[in-house]
Amino acid sequence: MLTSIQAVLDQVSEKIVPGVAERERMSQLAERLRGQVQNILDKAGYGGNVSIQGSFARDTWLSGEADLDIFASFPPTMDRQEWTEKVLPEIRKGIRAKTIDRYAEHPYLEFHIEGVRVNVVPCYSVERGQWKSATDRTPYHTDYMTKHLTQEMVFEARLLKRFIKGIRSYGAEIRVGGFSGMLVETLILHYRSFLETLIQASKWKPVIFLDIEKPAGSQDSRAREFGSPLVVIDPVDPNRNLAAAVREDKLWGFVAASRELQKSPGVWYFFPMKYKPRTKAQFSKLLEHQNRDIVAVSFDHPRIVPDVLWGQLLKIEKSITELMSREDFHPLRSTVWSDEARSSAILVELDTLTLPDAQLREGPPVSKMDDSQGFLDRHLDAKDTVRGPWIEADRWVVDKKRRILSVNHLITTALKDSRVGLTVPDQLNSSFRKNVKVLENRKILSLLGREGFDQGLSEFLAAKPAWLKTHH
Ligand code: CTP
Ligand code: MG
Repeated sequence: MLTSIQAVLDQVSEKIVPGVAERERMSQLAERLRGQVQNILDKAGYGGNVSIQGSFARDTWLSGEADLDIFASFPPTMDRQEWTEKVLPEIRKGIRAKTIDRYAEHPYLEFHIEGVRVNVVPCYSVERGQWKSATDRTPYHTDYMTKHLTQEMVFEARLLKRFIKGIRSYGAEIRVGGFSGMLVETLILHYRSFLETLIQASKWKPVIFLDIEKPAGSQDSRAREFGSPLVVIDPVDPNRNLAAAVREDKLWGFVAASRELQKSPGVWYFFPMKYKPRTKAQFSKLLEHQNRDIVAVSFDHPRIVPDVLWGQLLKIEKSITELMSREDFHPLRSTVWSDEARSSAILVELDTLTLPDAQLREGPPVSKMDDSQGFLDRHLDAKDTVRGPWIEADRWVVDKKRRILSVNHLITTALKDSRVGLTVPDQLNSSFRKNVKVLENRKILSLLGREGFDQGLSEFLAAKPAWLKTHH
């Protein structure tokens, strides 16, 4: 018998709603850290007002996975450079934990304490609309949501957040390109409940345009201007699309999973099965049974800020797959893996790793006299003509010698010859050139054991979202 969706939601809610003890512990930690950061700023004479923002302040955080967003707001007269050169270093020094530098629109700090991830984010305290930096809206978001979300809606937002996390579409960071917490909450404000959001999302067609501050139907003219298939207007800023970071595969993954949960409900959408480690032999077997070839373009690099790293890796992925396409290797799908520290790889599935050394080139129709003569002049005695020219139906065609015969050769040629058109962004360029490795099929196994690689490879080979279950 099928579990009813309500039974599933009841089961999920037990896991995601924090209990009294956890709330108490988190509140104490939040207040302690807030005070600590405020103290550091006061002592250093930078002023600024420190407050708790984000999902903790709005009570939409998930049990066991809360992060604390500590915002320090400064008068707009303060120079942005002072944040990076004075304020953040001072906080870094004062906090007795290992901090990581992060980067959104501007830098901020991240550290872990008592198993909780903490962000310390500088922002400007400005009038609504007078934004000086992207994070200036956050205090307004918190105000807006605490005012408009009811007790029930807070719970519904938790369900939706956990669902979107479970199907791996949560997070506006570049690595994910998915739904932010603010977007999740705004969807709940608009549709009132988790289930209603799912029912409506199941029917979404591009462009989807939602503006909770405006009556429905009055705003369609603006829908296309945002250049994005999902437009959800930020309730505190009519010019901002909360869904601007959502990439198409994450959007349509959400739509498809929304339909699927209604059709066959289960807890696994919210809490996917943990990855079961495979042995090298199992991976080897899996790779042998792939219908196509797989290649990993892997390289080591220095540690750079994760958001910058991911932006550059996605650009490399795009450039590599476009290059493979142009050269007839027929890539079908690809993904990026990175340990976010010193090594990354682009995985590509393609029709072939090698090509015949002849390449058919189409010429003009025979009926075009001048073009035909030109074609013959160019190819008849050319060194790189393998066979022909001959006539195929109404046209001239010729077999030319192909220069690049393997993916391996493609990458090495591209490194030597910029005309081949592989672009590697600045910060990764020299390490990519120095130590890129092209690993074909079984050779990919040499990357096993690296942080997160086994799971990444496993999912890539499965080629199916984890939430999509076969029914027998
Ligand atoms: N923020 C935003 N747009 C983003 C990322 C963050 O506006 N792309 C702002 C939001 O106001 C958000 C705050 O920064 O509330 C903190 O960000 P984050 O911790 O990523 O989101 P939360 O809403 O706190 O959700 P989570 O439960 O995932 O922490
Ligand atoms: Mg947060």
